[in-house]
Amino acid sequence: MRGISKISPAGAPARAPEGKVTLVVIDPRASVREQIAVPLWPYYRILDFANIEAAAAGTSGAPSAVLLGENAFDKTSAAALAALRQAPLFGGATIIACLPAQSRLVTEWVSTAAVDGRIDLPFRCGDMAILLSRLNKASLRKEWAKLPSTPRQALRRTLDAYDNLAELISKNAPLDYRTITDACAPVLSAVRRADHSYIFDALTRLDDLIYVHSLRVSTLLAMFGFKIGLNDEELMTLACGGLLLDLGKTMLPFEVLHKPGSLTAAEWELVRDHVDMARRYVERQSSAPRGIQVVIAEHHERLDGSGYPGRMSGDRLNDLARMAAIVDVFAALTEARPYRPAFSSGDALDILSGTMKEQVDQGLLSSFRQTLPNTWA
Ligand SMILES: [Fe+2]
Ligand SMILES: [Fe+2]
Repeated sequence: MRGISKISPAGAPARAPEGKVTLVVIDPRASVREQIAVPLWPYYRILDFANIEAAAAGTSGAPSAVLLGENAFDKTSAAALAALRQAPLFGGATIIACLPAQSRLVTEWVSTAAVDGRIDLPFRCGDMAILLSRLNKASLRKEWAKLPSTPRQALRRTLDAYDNLAELISKNAPLDYRTITDACAPVLSAVRRADHSYIFDALTRLDDLIYVHSLRVSTLLAMFGFKIGLNDEELMTLACGGLLLDLGKTMLPFEVLHKPGSLTAAEWELVRDHVDMARRYVERQSSAPRGIQVVIAEHHERLDGSGYPGRMSGDRLNDLARMAAIVDVFAALTEARPYRPAFSSGDALDILSGTMKEQVDQGLLSSFRQTLPNTWA
């Protein structure tokens, strides 16, 4: 099959070098593997195999999910699938049956918990992404039970709030700001107790780009504010602002948000509009205080006037906007994207103090640098 490689270096990460998530496709028939893989190919790194045993032997780097075609299911597959789940590389993978709409195979396999979910063929990439994300969140929520109380609550409450927010904004329904402060309260507690590393660790296994980024920004802004001695109200503004600043991105089409290559001018316009979209929504539909609105509206503004949407320059940007700009860039750079791997913290800080020297507040950047654990910077 064109473009589908079965070869990857030993010990490769779940994300390929360019930042894509790895999926394994299994079916004895090449035409079925192709039907499953083609819609996913631009957005994921795909490895395909004729059977489960070959996948277990030939995959390196833990895949996020295993996608099984109809012909991968036969009487001998139950044992092979159970063995696959026990294999160290595949233990965390979601297993999905990709079947013709009328297929009754799945009833039996789902009922025995051999597979985690099913999707009808043919599907669009966005449908698969939604299913993968839902299953990924459900399984990680269970694992969070093992975490200490404050990071566990920070993760659970912010994820609930975020899923709810995406729905509210899509319907232009009102947002009760208290739901956001309730969700962010344990984020602040975790920061005060220096338990925030649990949050960052847990987020490395979640595949929802926008939520992961938002909670990282929220937690980093709370750490930043705590380090420079801001009061409780200011810390809450930073944590909530961080969680909400990229809310407008939940409205972007999957194909734009996950595009592995460069965006067209029209797509770039759509991405830039995430700021105004969230600002308009929060202004009209919530009781969020002014500081939150500043964080949302101005996190892409730059001191030299090169930012968007207002091309505001230094003297008009207060510390909230300046802190949000630094943390948003730092968080984005240290996360993998479909078109590039994550930068190290040191490299991200070098970019902020080098090529972005005129764009972000260098005094605040030095304070932010001191906020980060020694192991990061
Ligand atoms: Fe943004
Ligand atoms: Fe962002």
